[in-house]
Amino acid sequence: MKNSRKFANVIAATVLFAAALFITVRAHSDVQASDTAAFYKAKCVACHGKSAEKKFDSSLPEEQLIDIVLKGKKAAKPPHMPGYGDKGVSSEQAKALIDHMKQLKAGQ
Ligand code: HEC
Repeated sequence: MKNSRKFANVIAATVLFAAALFITVRAHSDVQASDTAAFYKAKCVACHGKSAEKKFDSSLPEEQLIDIVLKGKKAAKPPHMPGYGDKGVSSEQAKALIDHMKQLKAGQ
């Protein structure tokens, strides 16, 4: 009896610990689109580069740039630009990302 209660306590503690760990890891890996710089680093840097120096024609009209971030764009050959609208990025967040890329490109 005593031993089985001890066992149950250990199980309960283990489950709690695992849940806490899971939540902590998720909170850290799930970068929010509202955190522009972190989101750019996590999701965009691989294709566009640290200074937004790749595949980014900043002279396009802003409307069009926002549209591309939300809906994606087929490049001449892969990899293509994925659309982020259905991944929860709003047009305000897309605009913030573009402003961030322009700043990076300008070396600020
Ligand atoms: C898998 C690679 C890839 C990822 C990841 C990616 N892009 Fe792109 N992006 C592209 C390609 C390819 C283009 C089109 C370039 C072209 O037309 O030659 C593009 C185009 C763009 C454009 C329009 C500028 C232009 O020259 O066409 C913007 C703005 C942009 N991306 C922003 C972002 C942002 C913000 C993220 C992250 C949320 C992101 N991209 C993630 C590949 C990517």
